[in-house]
Amino acid sequence: MSRIAYVNGRYLPFHDAKVHVEDRGYQFADGVYEVCEVRSGRLIDERRHLERLKRSLGELQIRMPMSARALGVILHEVAARNRIGYGIVYLQITRGVARRDHVFPSRDIRPSLVVTARALNRSRNEALAEQGIAVITVPDNRWGRVDIKTTGLLSNVLARQAALERGARDAWFVDEDGTVTEASSANVWIVTPAGTLVTRHADHAILRGITRTVLFDAIKAQGLAVQERSFTVEEAYGAREAFITSASQIVLPVVRVDGRTIGNGKPGPVATALRRAYHLYAETG
Ligand code: PDD
Repeated sequence: MSRIAYVNGRYLPFHDAKVHVEDRGYQFADGVYEVCEVRSGRLIDERRHLERLKRSLGELQIRMPMSARALGVILHEVAARNRIGYGIVYLQITRGVARRDHVFPSRDIRPSLVVTARALNRSRNEALAEQGIAVITVPDNRWGRVDIKTTGLLSNVLARQAALERGARDAWFVDEDGTVTEASSANVWIVTPAGTLVTRHADHAILRGITRTVLFDAIKAQGLAVQERSFTVEEAYGAREAFITSASQIVLPVVRVDGRTIGNGKPGPVATALRRAYHLYAETG
């Protein structure tokens, strides 16, 4: 089946899905994006993703190209046209096309909107979660506003590549003070030896993940203790469990950090239970 993308008002076969060479997303990473899980053909947590999109655009003074409701229609349409049962939809909005100049172009420039969708292999993802992943740590050399979901992901790309080259699946960013911020495309959690869940507080140094937000509801419902605070790499090494959360991976156990085994080296009961429970608390569109 040929894939279909939405590009600035049109649904196009992938081959014809193109943007202009002077799109500011291409030249400056002057844009934002969202990734939403699709499950049984339905969008998960769409409302929250669109709310965060609005916030990201607002922080960069890029206007919404259309209402959240209209964007939702396009997300659904792209998922449906690509017959996605299990996978993701990707939405990207940039400031638009203008002669290359660092300052903002005129307000009349229309933001560019692209939506794509991709099926994911469910059994492969489940197998990965049952096994758990290895991560490395790398210095967090990103800009100071990673709470905005911009397409400027070069540090994330380099971190993920470094992980791959060192035999790991992902990388965790570590601040100058030795505390873990987040993973290359996910939030990070640990379970302390006393059984308390810990994830970094949401400031400008992490993205406030939608999966992270929804997981708090699951944690509360299960009566688990949780703290939003910084934690060091050393504390993570000594954790009982560790895991990462994102729309595409939901809850993915981490069993090795920098070559050190976490807990007994297998996905722990807390991560496993939260992975199973997640969709009870998520909003299904
Ligand atoms: N990544 N932190 C970063 C840096 C991310 O890129 C993501 C999401 C998250 C988790 O956010 P959420 O739970 O809303 O997906 C945290 C998406 C999935 C991506 O880039 O593909």
